[in-house]
Amino acid sequence: MSNTIKRIAVFTSGGDAPGMNAAVRAVVRTAAYHNLHTYGVTGGYEGLIAAKFNRLEPRDVGNIMHRGGTILKTSRSQKFTTKEGRQQAYDSLRAHSIDGLIAIGGNGTFTGAHVFSKEFKVPIIGIPGTIDNDLFGTDYTIGFDTSVNTALEAVDKIRDTADSHDRVFFVEVMGRNAGFIALNTGIGSGASSILIPENGMEPDALFDVLNKNIHRGKLFSLVIVAEGNPWGGADKVAKLVQKKIPKIDVRVAIIGHLQRGGSPTAFDRVLASRLGFEAVEGLLNGKKDVMVGLVDNKTKYTPFKKAIASEKKVDETLVKMAEILAI
Ligand code: F6P
Repeated sequence: MSNTIKRIAVFTSGGDAPGMNAAVRAVVRTAAYHNLHTYGVTGGYEGLIAAKFNRLEPRDVGNIMHRGGTILKTSRSQKFTTKEGRQQAYDSLRAHSIDGLIAIGGNGTFTGAHVFSKEFKVPIIGIPGTIDNDLFGTDYTIGFDTSVNTALEAVDKIRDTADSHDRVFFVEVMGRNAGFIALNTGIGSGASSILIPENGMEPDALFDVLNKNIHRGKLFSLVIVAEGNPWGGADKVAKLVQKKIPKIDVRVAIIGHLQRGGSPTAFDRVLASRLGFEAVEGLLNGKKDVMVGLVDNKTKYTPFKKAIASEKKVDETLVKMAEILAI
């Protein structure tokens, strides 16, 4: 175990995700167990640049496990994409004698971390925290499970009114360019169709499904649309359907940022605790420039370079299964 690391800093970056606080708590307490001093950085990379560090003791992270959002605040920093910004961040770290960093975030966060770690040789470990679940090197990212559960709760409610009025609802969920949230929300809510960037369902295929539904007497339907659907979000899809099948009564619901908030599920709290713990253990064992994820229920380190460059694929079996279960 390395004895060169004495002071570490932890920050959250990019879109917040439920469970980030549980990860911060695990980092601070594991570090304290190993007699390290931990500093919380306020506001992600922007806070690193401006040296916004606060010492965090185990008691400072009590009562946050169940809270959504991030007590450390977050940002998407433009400045850190510049050499000058990263130099300032490095100067801040040196001024506070910080020897290791733990970054909680998604693809953008790890892209910055990888560049920074190459330029200044600062040991950094990443913890995947994003509702999108779009990171290679982990089966699940922190916040994904909570987000899907939040979306499901909303879609269950929409189902009630869709059924009562015999309407077709197009419900848009987040996920950026990935369809994990949409696929899981669609399966869990029993949607008749799921439009995700990855499976390439074309408009004609959707019209077909909706027409078949009408012919077999199913007058209401739920269609889950990933925001990254290549031929449009829920609004555009609904308009196309309305034009093609005028007798359908369409409505649109965009869940939006609702699915980024709220108390994390048990799954996300346990995942965040495991990854926070492993990140500190990893730093002490000399790991750097890597993300720690969960693969087949075991923690695993993946180089940042690989995590950000590789594409995490949706499970095609699930896509097919969702179609079959909707007949
Ligand atoms: O990456 C998380 C995410 O919520 C995406 O699903 C979404 O596309 C994006 O962030 C929204 O970003 P913002 O909160 O900056 O509008």
